[in-house]
Amino acid sequence: MEKRQELYAGKAKSVYTTDDPDLLIMHFRDDTSAFDGKKKESLARKGCVNNVFNAFIMARLEDAGIPTHFEKRLSDTESLVKRMDMIPVECVIRNVAAGSLVKRLGVEEGMALTPPTFELFLKNDEKSDPMINESLAETFGWATPEQLTRMKALTFKVNHVLKQLFAEGDMLLVDYKLEFGIFKGQVILGDEFSPDGCRLWDANTREKMDKDRFRQGLGGVIEAYEEVGRRLGIQFTH
Ligand code: TMP
Ligand code: ASP
Repeated sequence: MEKRQELYAGKAKSVYTTDDPDLLIMHFRDDTSAFDGKKKESLARKGCVNNVFNAFIMARLEDAGIPTHFEKRLSDTESLVKRMDMIPVECVIRNVAAGSLVKRLGVEEGMALTPPTFELFLKNDEKSDPMINESLAETFGWATPEQLTRMKALTFKVNHVLKQLFAEGDMLLVDYKLEFGIFKGQVILGDEFSPDGCRLWDANTREKMDKDRFRQGLGGVIEAYEEVGRRLGIQFTH
């Protein structure tokens, strides 16, 4: 697989074209960002940790019948993925109240959410990823009703698979964000699944093991990500 030119650089990953028009290389950098890019730092080993972690999770999701853009891991920090047309809508499921939900509704952090909530956000840093809904997505052409139905079903299926997987490692999947795209007419899961885009708490102590450690300046960010991986039996290559 020949790496060609950089297609775009996001806040934590860069994407490159290859000699195959259907495939891209996703490079996980050590760059860490939060609050729509307002807080930034480079954290050693993060690119490798998230690349290896994401490869493990995407394989589990594929095994469970969830179509993803993931093809294979190429190196410590690079993976091969399908080239999709991205849908600029972020899907969030929450099993436990935290983050923006707590701020918005004034509910207590840690409250169990039954049934889990499902929210949509527009992927737009300049506007700080505003919350949207299906009507707005349809009217402004961000996604069709059929695509939204499929995204919601897949996001709940991911919850079913991953809640169980993390529970086996004594972790609570508090919430997470997924992004989807279109490949050959089908809605498939894109982006990444790593502790950067979800909240994970120790099931017993409720210690935070995700990017909230970075957002809140708690320290031990990558050590926590590595502990999450260790509990799932992931062997990191660094
Ligand atoms: P929130 O509490 O800030 O709305 O985030 C909910 C979950 O989704 C949390 O695990 C972080 C993740 N998320 C992102 O990673 N990026 C985003 O742009 C958004 C809106 C959420
Ligand atoms: N909105 C997410 C966060 O606050 C992602 C980001 O802005 O980088 O971490």
